Order: sequence, then structure tokens, then C-alpha cells
Amino acid sequence: MPAQVSEPYTLVTGGAGYIGCHTVVELIQAGTKVVVVDNLCNSSEEAIRRIEKITNTSVPFHKVDITEYDALNSVFKEYNIGAVVHFAGLKAVGESGEIPLEYYRVNVGGSITLLRVMQENKVNKIVFSSSATVYGDATRFENMIPIPEHCPIGPTNPYGRTKSAIEDMIRDHCAANPDLIAGLLRYFNPCGAHPSGVMGEDPFGIPNNLLPYLAQVAVGRREYLQVFGNDYASRDGTPIRDYIHVVDLARGHLAALKKLSAPETKGCCVWNLGTGHGSTVLEMVDAFSKAVGRELPYKFVGRRSGDVLDLTALPTKANKELGWKAEFTVEDACRDLWRWQKGNPYGYQTAEEVGEVNG
Ligand code: NAD
Ligand code: WQD
Repeated sequence: MPAQVSEPYTLVTGGAGYIGCHTVVELIQAGTKVVVVDNLCNSSEEAIRRIEKITNTSVPFHKVDITEYDALNSVFKEYNIGAVVHFAGLKAVGESGEIPLEYYRVNVGGSITLLRVMQENKVNKIVFSSSATVYGDATRFENMIPIPEHCPIGPTNPYGRTKSAIEDMIRDHCAANPDLIAGLLRYFNPCGAHPSGVMGEDPFGIPNNLLPYLAQVAVGRREYLQVFGNDYASRDGTPIRDYIHVVDLARGHLAALKKLSAPETKGCCVWNLGTGHGSTVLEMVDAFSKAVGRELPYKFVGRRSGDVLDLTALPTKANKELGWKAEFTVEDACRDLWRWQKGNPYGYQTAEEVGEVNG
């Protein structure tokens, strides 16, 4: 009788985070074995419990920092890992300007450690979370909106520069190691929550991003939304973004993993994950207000430094090569976000834990 060879695990770094936990659910539901590492610096272990609740399985979780070689290596020694989906990193654009070294240490340094551990353990497939932020202001070129992958990149903040540095590093590493196959996924604006209503985004502190902020306005944790600028050259004066439902985004990772395993796939590939449709800030306020069932208060304030007019994806390369397409609408995302926020007004925590108890 031939020896039984068990199906390898997919290691998900940052799997307790917003996009990570949705991806872990999709992987498990597709029959993939998953092991998660996360140091919980921007998430909570409760997210793992929620994944278990949705999938009705137990999820191997290791509280490990990806910058620590030995701890990460021991996870690779414990499990038969076949591929890595690499989400772990720091992601706040504003903060990256205040503590850039920390962003380079964690994002770039952590990715170096991960790639070294993968090499030592002969793991040769990686999907990496890049960002549309690497494009910077694509309106500086003619005919680059919607943005194709061949648009020249030009990140305008340290966070974005860590992403483009990691992209370069992975590309160089693939060139030197032909067995390594990598997918760089440039996400546009992830939003929404799991349709079950038990899993979603849980930002620590004051949210930096539009929909998480608006969701906290809707549950009464914040008074009103500040709309950063109404003098952009758009249909209503506010900037345009490509908002993609987090479950669509999660499924893009499964499509990318499948593509990396196809015999024709070689080296390092880059794919935009977006819908191809742009919405303005005011359109999103309107869509989310409709999901909530009442108008949400907002005030116009000045532009936020570093914001650009338009970041809309051209997703046709991913559509064709990955056989993947975003299916949810902005209305679906708003409905799912509201279901999550209404049922979990303090995310995975309580009002006491976040220090928002009145009286
Ligand atoms: P998130 O902060 O919710 O998830 C990241 C996870 O990584 C967190 O759980 C955090 O605790 C963990 N982490 C951070 N540093 C770590 C370390 N040193 N070791 C182990 N774990 C560590 O963020 P997210 O929104 O889920 O984003 C996931 C990835 O996608 C990030 O790399 C982010 O830069 C990228 N991305 C996010 C967006 C977005 O708007 N959310 C857009 C484009 C790209
Ligand atoms: C969207 C629009 C704001 C908050 C960021 C990162 C990017 C990527 C996705 C990681 C903009 C406006 C926002 C608010 C507002 N993340 N806004 N009031 O800036 O497009 O992208 O998240 O890779 O790198 O930069 O997303 O949600 O912050 O802003 O008016 O309180 O909403 O001006 O036009 P952004 P966002």
C-alpha cells in the first residue's frame, strides 16, 4: 500500500486581521487546511473564534511575530505547508509617516524573514497583499484611469513604499529562484463584512478609513463624518475609489493560489483586485445611509494630505487570468457592514474594553 500523503496546509500570516479572517473562512469552506499566524498587534483572537463559528471547524492558530525567525520557523516545522498567503503587516498610511522605521522593520523586515523561512522549508508559493496605494496618483498620466497593472507605480507615503519595496524584493527573489512562484495582489478599497454578521473589520482607536468611520457614526460612537474635501474634479467634488467587498477580495486569494499551482504559471505575477467601478465619498455616504435606513450626518472639511482624486481599478487581467470577478455590489457591502456593526457595535470587544462607557 502506498504511504498516505496528507494534503498540505496553507499558512496565513495576519489571519486574525480584517482581510485575513475572511480569506481563512473562504479557504476552509473550499476544503483547504489552514494554519494561522498573527501577533495580534491589530486584531483579536476572538476573530479566530468567529472563523471557527462560521466554518464549524477548529483553526490552528499560533501567536507568532513574523519578524521572529525561530518562532516562525517552528510553525513551518510543525505543519506540512504548501503555500503562504501573507497579510501580516502594518497598514495605517498616516502612522507610517510618523514611525517609518517601524513600518520598514515589520513590513519589509517581516517579509524578508518569511521568505527566508519559506526557503529553508522549501515552500515555493506565496500570495502577497499589496495595495493600490503603490500607484500613487495615476491621474498624473493620460489614460491610466481605470488603472491597469502596467501603470507606472509611484507611492506617496512610507506605507506604500514598503509595499513597493516588498513587491520588488519578491520579484528579485523569484528571478533568482525559478521554483518560487508569487502572486502580488494589489487591493483597491476593501469594505463590508461577512454576510453572517459575526465577522468584520474591528479597527483599534479612531478609524482612518471611510466606511469603518461611518459605521461608528451610525451606531452613535462618533458624532459625524468629516468629508475630506469637496473641491476635487469629480462628479460631486469628492474623491473616487473602487470599493470591493471583502468576501470578493478573499475569493481573489483562492483564485490566485489556484493560478500559482497551474503548470503554466512561472515567476512573479501581479494582479489588481478591484471591481472596476468607482464611487465618490458622497455616493458611499448615501449608499451606507440607505443600508442603515436614515441619513448619516457629515460635514465638509479640508482635503486630507496625500489623498488623490481617483483610484479605480482596471481588473480585466485578474478577471481573465484568474477566472475571478468581483460579484458583490457596494449596496451588498453596505448591508453586510451594517449587519456586522449593528450586531457588534464595539467589534470583538465590549464598550468597557474600548473605554467608551458613559456615566
Ligand atoms: P489588519 O491590520 O486587520 O490585518 C493585519 C494583521 O497582521 C493583523 O491581524 C495584525 O495583528 C497582524 N500583524 C501585524 N504585524 C504582524 C507581525 N509582525 N507578525 C504577525 N502578525 C502581524 O489589516 P487588513 O486590512 O486585514 O490588511 C491585510 C493586509 O492587506 C495588510 O498587509 C495590508 O497592508 C494589506 N492591504 C490592506 C488594505 C485595506 O484597506 N484594508 C488595502 C490594501 C492592502
Ligand atoms: C476613502 C475616501 C478620503 C475617511 C486607504 C489607504 C490605501 C488602502 C486602502 C491599504 C478618501 C475619504 C475617509 C474620513 C473621508 N489601504 N474619507 N473621511 O485613502 O482611499 O485608501 O485604504 O493599503 O493604501 O490609503 O481609503 O477609506 O481612508 O478613504 O472623507 O473620515 O474617503 O478622503 O477620499 P483610501 P479611505
